Amino acid sequence: MKAFYCTLILITTLLAPAAKAADKPAEVTSPDRTLQVRVTLKNGIPFYNVTRNGQPVINDSRLGFVLKDLPALDHDFTITSATPATKDETWTQPWGEVKTIRNHYNSLTITLEEKSALKRKLLVTFRVYNDGIGFRYEIPQQANLKSFIIMDELTEFALAQDLAAWWIPAYGEEMDSEYLYRHNRVSELKEKVFTPLTLEGNGLYVSIHEAALIDYAGMDLDRTTGNTLKTDLVPWANGNRVEATAPMKSPWRTIQIASKPGDLVTSYLILNLNEPNSLGDVSWIKPGKYNGIWWGMHIKTNTWEGGPQHGATTANMKEMIDFASRHNLSAVLAEGWNEGWEGDWTVSGNFSFTKPYADYDIAEISRYAKEKNIGLIAHHETGGNIANYDRQLEDAFKFCQQYDIHRLKTGYVNKLPAGEHHQGQYMVRHYHKVMETAARYKVMLDVHEPIKDTGLRRTYPNMMTREGARGTEYEAWSTGNPPEHTVILPFTRCLGGPLDYTPGIFDIQFKTTGTFRVHTTLAKQLALYVVIYSPFQMAADLPQNYENKPAFKFIEDVPTDWEDTKVLQAEIGKYVTIARKDRNSNDWYIGSITNEAAREVTIKLDFLPAGKKYTAEIYEDGKDADMTTNPLPVSIHQQVVDAKTELKVQLAAGGGAAIRLHEGSTK
Ligand code: NOJ
Ligand code: CA
Repeated sequence: MKAFYCTLILITTLLAPAAKAADKPAEVTSPDRTLQVRVTLKNGIPFYNVTRNGQPVINDSRLGFVLKDLPALDHDFTITSATPATKDETWTQPWGEVKTIRNHYNSLTITLEEKSALKRKLLVTFRVYNDGIGFRYEIPQQANLKSFIIMDELTEFALAQDLAAWWIPAYGEEMDSEYLYRHNRVSELKEKVFTPLTLEGNGLYVSIHEAALIDYAGMDLDRTTGNTLKTDLVPWANGNRVEATAPMKSPWRTIQIASKPGDLVTSYLILNLNEPNSLGDVSWIKPGKYNGIWWGMHIKTNTWEGGPQHGATTANMKEMIDFASRHNLSAVLAEGWNEGWEGDWTVSGNFSFTKPYADYDIAEISRYAKEKNIGLIAHHETGGNIANYDRQLEDAFKFCQQYDIHRLKTGYVNKLPAGEHHQGQYMVRHYHKVMETAARYKVMLDVHEPIKDTGLRRTYPNMMTREGARGTEYEAWSTGNPPEHTVILPFTRCLGGPLDYTPGIFDIQFKTTGTFRVHTTLAKQLALYVVIYSPFQMAADLPQNYENKPAFKFIEDVPTDWEDTKVLQAEIGKYVTIARKDRNSNDWYIGSITNEAAREVTIKLDFLPAGKKYTAEIYEDGKDADMTTNPLPVSIHQQVVDAKTELKVQLAAGGGAAIRLHEGSTK
């Protein structure tokens, strides 16, 4: 087995478990000593707080649980031990936005024990990194607590300042996460909010989220009083929050803290808190770009269901495969290949995952794709009918195996079984089962309407990407995504992990669905391949809209697997410039995007190795480009650059720029 991690491991237990901590406050600081966590008991009730350079970030915040039909596990405690440890390792991602990640923290595990009759134990482990903290509960095996139901997790985040929040609601019609972000002070929040929740103010950038969400309920945040946010666990239909048996570990609650928005983007704390790769040999897992039968259905030139406009036909797939092989894409997606799309599929969800429509000759398509060295991406839209999918799961994956399919897009549009939520424990278990089943069949996953990303790709590297955001599809049939959406996403949704935003629309003002259009310039569509990280990136438009378009060369060139990532400049909701280095060459790629305001950005190339010349291939908004009136002009030009160069780039209103830095001073 190839070892992908642990080039350096140092685990040191600094102190033996303190004999009896006598309820003294317990403290742990980050390796660079900027962050400190302090745990205290007040009349037997546990609290933690967080300071940064001595200044409070999180004031005393409660810990504990309310259990069904049992006394609450939240008071009457004594601290029986406080065990510190430290770890410093560097591990390698099999694929990702950076190649190596340093996992460096100090930790403290507090054992709380009830003083009265039941004497139940609750452990809380804090890991303090230079870029934030994570903490999790552990309910160990014990005589007086075996199977139990959590009705409430009391974890609070009592913010020391009334920061401004970038938020989306936690519950609603839009599949739990497909919303435009809103911006309010924490003290103004009136509804439960989704995580990652990004907060900013007074030079501080904070993201509250969770890591390693396994067999537990997703965490939302509910403002209680003032600036205090409290954990809200998404319930089961029956009102329970978590059904568990000891020993149980909760997901990590995470607080990333930075002085620049870009430092949240390049914080890998969520991944560090997940367990290492559990799949062994992952050489079959490959990032890449794809096209497919998809946008046509959204803009109504094709249909999912069979009939005269059917998209997923053998002939159309062969054309798509030919296109992919000519243009450096590695896989092709087919939606609407399987029986069950007739009528309102969002209500019935009666799909077959093994029966192709008659005009979709899967054996021939599989043979043709193999001949052209292109992978197929299967599609399992469930319409929320989980029982129907569950029943067919093994057969569905056997079908993939039979036709040599190693990539799968899943979908969970619309209502789930009565009362269940996409982010509740019921669905956490379902998504996990699909991920593990996919791994057994060597299938890489792209999940739409997913469970939120909590970094499980570290443990299951076949969990490639997911939607879980308002992606390009909304531009086809709704008021769309205003240009600030994509300058908010990198600092909010994307902090959880890769996002399949499906960029690359060139026919921006398509006329097939009335007045709907994409809120962008063409150059900005290119920049999104760099700005919004995903190991699978779609060239989402119809092939004919790419033919003979010089700008398409950027999509052909841009990699999906990176050695390094740097955020060069950013203001959340206004603009962002990100540079990424290709894993398989010395080339760098830059994406810079803006909101509805045009602006000139100065991009310093001082991250390049000193003394080396590069050819910058620049795709910039062209003369008079403007998202609303003139989205298409792209100026493509070249310039020899090095580490001393400062590029001045014009971003049109709703625009962007994409740059390839190719090693050498000639092409
Ligand atoms: C919603 C997904 O986000 C979209 O990509 C897909 O085309 C439809 N569901 C149909 O499955
Ligand atoms: Ca969706």
